[in-house]
Amino acid sequence: MLNVKDMIKDVLVSEEQIKKRIKEIALDIERDFPDGDVIFIGVLKGSVIFVSDLMRAMNVNVTMDFMAVSSYGMSSESSGIVRILKDLDFDIENRDVVIVEDIIDTGNTLKYLYEYLRARNPRNLKICCLLDKPERRKADIKADYVGFSIPDEFVVGYGLDYAEIGRHLPYVGVLKEEVYKKV
Ligand code: PRP
Ligand code: MN
Ligand code: MG
Repeated sequence: MLNVKDMIKDVLVSEEQIKKRIKEIALDIERDFPDGDVIFIGVLKGSVIFVSDLMRAMNVNVTMDFMAVSSYGMSSESSGIVRILKDLDFDIENRDVVIVEDIIDTGNTLKYLYEYLRARNPRNLKICCLLDKPERRKADIKADYVGFSIPDEFVVGYGLDYAEIGRHLPYVGVLKEEVYKKV
């Protein structure tokens, strides 16, 4: 079987760059919510690595919750039709909430989630994403905290997958074209 490392063309964001940026983002969030008691909502599965590193960089209390949604279905691009597969465990009314995502691509997933969670009347609802691909945007949505703005390339690693491969890589890498263009 092909090793995932042989599928990577370049490292786009290194492990060190990610670590450094996460510390900066954690400080930004702490500045916005100095009393802590923030709820981080990770969106399964891509955000798992990011949310776990980000919460460990925080010096205020953070509660962790997750949502699972299905947006891509069988196609490689999200459709705008989002299905909720796992809802929150906690009530977020009057709470300070940060949605944590690995990437904003078309924005369809986050647009839907943002409206869905807004309707539950949190005190604050912010969006934090590690990667942003502004060129690909279809939905009108913007993150409050962005790790890196990246070009429109097929990236994997640090939680992001290609057909479930590559999530474990500690960096964000660009996939070789032959991997997703073949047959
Ligand atoms: C990816 C990614 C974001 C979403 C972004 O998730 O993790 O959640 O797509 O795309 P959008 O901005 O076009 O909506 P995916 O559906 O691949 O599931 P995964 O997190 O389990 O990999
Ligand atoms: Mn995802
Ligand atoms: Mg995916």
